[in-house]
Amino acid sequence: MMNPQLRAIVRGMPKAELHIHIEGSLEPELIFALAERNGVPLGYESVEHLRSAYAFTDLQSFLDIYYAGASVLLKEQDFYDMTQAYLRRAEADNVLHTEIFFDPQTHTARGVAIADVINGIHRACQDSPVSAALILCFLRHLSEEEAFETLEDALPHRDKFIGIGLDSSEVGNPPEKFLRVFARCRELGLHLVAHAGEEGPPAYIRTALDDLKVERIDHGVRCLEDAELTARLAREQIALTVCPLSNTKLRVFDQMHDHNLVQLLDAGLLVTVNSDDPAYFGGYMNDNFDAIFDALPLGLSHAQRLARNGFIAAFLPQAQKDAFLATVDAYFAQHAAAHGIAQ
Ligand code: HPA
Ligand code: ZN
Repeated sequence: MMNPQLRAIVRGMPKAELHIHIEGSLEPELIFALAERNGVPLGYESVEHLRSAYAFTDLQSFLDIYYAGASVLLKEQDFYDMTQAYLRRAEADNVLHTEIFFDPQTHTARGVAIADVINGIHRACQDSPVSAALILCFLRHLSEEEAFETLEDALPHRDKFIGIGLDSSEVGNPPEKFLRVFARCRELGLHLVAHAGEEGPPAYIRTALDDLKVERIDHGVRCLEDAELTARLAREQIALTVCPLSNTKLRVFDQMHDHNLVQLLDAGLLVTVNSDDPAYFGGYMNDNFDAIFDALPLGLSHAQRLARNGFIAAFLPQAQKDAFLATVDAYFAQHAAAHGIAQ
């Protein structure tokens, strides 16, 4: 277990979160409240029954329950309430900046207007003291044509999101399936990211970079299976948005002790720590940091590096990044000295 002083420093340090699916922040209690408010039948008789179904064996077993949970979201206010709840938790964990994924196709397929999805999430971001931006994700189990339709649908709201991502079932749906729609998004000046190398092979990380031209890789932990790719990610300082509790819950690694985060850092990679789907995987940002610092040989200098990496990898203007980085460095200068810990 981590020493209590280090734990307090890590919990209190300023953070950026770059990999959070807003639908994955929907807690069972809110799922039940929204189901009742909207008259949506749920296949579970209680919050406890629903929570006890959160025993996943792989990504797909999670996605099936995640999409079922999202079925209670119908109105703009539902999206607002979900996002407000997440932002309050993020603020409590000292997250100063967050880039939030949302999956419009999960909702438009149920007849929800994309305007209600985007406006609800965006309005909650505006009402929060946390700096927040939105990244629209295409579902990779659907076709590229459907992604194009979703992009068209979203374009009237172009000012409310900063980027495009790619999520859902990875294996069998390689990045190159979305080559043309990502090219179009690039022309539109959107930032680009994609999930790759979570369950899928290192080849998917390569095609995400070379074909989709993404700026960050979501997850990416399987890169270490390919030395040349790892060297490239280090050389180009491509950020990996790693999600430790997600990886153990979805059995990418059996236990946190087996997680390759330290090897990724030792390889010189721009590793960030994130919560992915906090309501489903056992926790928000500080739960993820507690878990890795408890299980892995990490110290104060790793904490500062991870905090800095989150802001370095953020899609923020350089001046804003520099201001956040100065906040991180001031925090560590103060707390390391106060606790008598050598940096
Ligand atoms: N991987 C792929 N798709 C997802 C995830 C994930 O971790 N979370 C929500 N959608
Ligand atoms: Zn994810």
